[in-house]
Amino acid sequence: FVAVLDFGAQYGQLIARRVRDLHVYSEIFPCDIPAAELAEKGPSAVILSGGPASVYADDAPDMDAGVFELGVPVLGFCYGQQIMAVKLGGEVGHTEKGEYGPARLARQGESRILDGTPAEQTVWMSHRDAVSSVPAGFSVTSATQTCPVASMEDASRNLFATQFHPEVRHTECGRKILQNFLFGVCGLEPDWTMDNIIDEKVAEIREQVGEKKVILALSGGVDSSVTAALVHRAIGDQLTCVFVNHGMLRKGEPEMVEEVFRKQFNVPLIHVHAEERYSRMLAGVSDPEQKRRLIGTQFWKEFFSVAQELDGIEYLAQGTIYPDIIESGARKTGGKASTIKSHHNLIPFPDGVHFDLIEPLDHFFKDEVRELGIALGLPDKLVWRQPFPGPGLAIRIIGEVTPEKLAILKEADAVVREELDAYNQRLFEETGDRNSEHACWQYFAVLPDIRSVGVMGDERTYQRPVIVRAVESSDAMTADWAKLPYDVIGRISSRIVDEVDGVNRVVYDVTPKPPATIEWE
Ligand code: XMP
Repeated sequence: FVAVLDFGAQYGQLIARRVRDLHVYSEIFPCDIPAAELAEKGPSAVILSGGPASVYADDAPDMDAGVFELGVPVLGFCYGQQIMAVKLGGEVGHTEKGEYGPARLARQGESRILDGTPAEQTVWMSHRDAVSSVPAGFSVTSATQTCPVASMEDASRNLFATQFHPEVRHTECGRKILQNFLFGVCGLEPDWTMDNIIDEKVAEIREQVGEKKVILALSGGVDSSVTAALVHRAIGDQLTCVFVNHGMLRKGEPEMVEEVFRKQFNVPLIHVHAEERYSRMLAGVSDPEQKRRLIGTQFWKEFFSVAQELDGIEYLAQGTIYPDIIESGARKTGGKASTIKSHHNLIPFPDGVHFDLIEPLDHFFKDEVRELGIALGLPDKLVWRQPFPGPGLAIRIIGEVTPEKLAILKEADAVVREELDAYNQRLFEETGDRNSEHACWQYFAVLPDIRSVGVMGDERTYQRPVIVRAVESSDAMTADWAKLPYDVIGRISSRIVDEVDGVNRVVYDVTPKPPATIEWE
């Protein structure tokens, strides 16, 4: 596998994903991991990521120069090139002006990693510092107008580096460069495929669990569903899934969970009908944070009251994915189990109850989890399900949640989803890209706590408005409102007013995030 040493700001994540796209397994480590610790993990190659800092800054991220002595090929990008130069006796200085964005690269002489790429090509640059003198044994293999050392290598020691970012799509030959490194230099095989991954994970789960029993909280979301399908593939009926239905799921969702897991996969499934309990608990509660707290706490109460009744359960399977772990700070200490656990301690085990955790997806990115889901036979509509908050529709009903409001929101939301699912599908058919930038990433209805005047037939009405929210985003950190065609907005509006009792007006939210959030509560 390829170890990516991360010098900050998530540069490492993108590199790891690009390597995995080429069917080579890749894992991210903190940049300052001791060389001996890295050696124990046995990587076949190391990639040094870019980073936002200057190598001469006081708190500049550092690395153990012993990594260059491990006897495996090393490739550095941007900050990775600079730190390689500094550690091996070269020099880095400020360039006259920074270089940001596309740049024309001219090759010089032989290069193993630029092999098969044109003499001139476009690359993506983002730097102020640059290598001014290469270490002994290195030759300069390309330059741009601003940057005299755009790439360098010492092929005899298998050390390579580029000032530009091959992992960024705008670097024309980025993929080819990575291929040259992985397959040409390192001699790796592209054998990290979904089928191999499933076989490997299934074997791991069997080995870990043996004859013991496993429980899993199924939410109907992508991560818990893929975990369920994978664990079930490994150990069959030793797995029991618990689906806590809090009554605030979207229209058709509880039925889909039943259909997929009970009927299609034949997984032992306990459907906990907690709708009434939640409804009583939320009566009179209008503060969003209090709703979240109550719903979350009650979830674990419901789950453990079922789990404790079952005999002989020793493991709890969870759909933790790679970004959860990276973001929980585990990487800062080299992914040591102790810090990964702190993220797990969030599970409020009741006194005297403890299950060991199985987290088979904890090294997968979201798009890989989806691919895995497809390979395991989960339906598209589940695998491509948009993000949906744990507290469900409760935080899309402003103010108190009542059965009447829930009924209205479920119906209105179903119309929004039906129309925008179809809109996304049309875009997908036109572009062949599920993540087309104009596709809606998350879309739903919100029910505010007001009424407005309308007229239907000859009657004056005084009913509820529905807010439609549809955003483009890739990670929910920022989002823009979707520039939907007017006819799509118009159809959503007339369908909601026609089909949903108690609604006489539809409005569209045209606020990006920031300053607004995606959700209304
Ligand atoms: P905001 O509204 O903060 O949402 O822009 C960002 C993303 O997070 C989801 N979200 C939640 N997910 N529990 C969840 O599991 C929550 O309480 C919650 N609040 C927001 C939201 O749907 C969006 O995808």
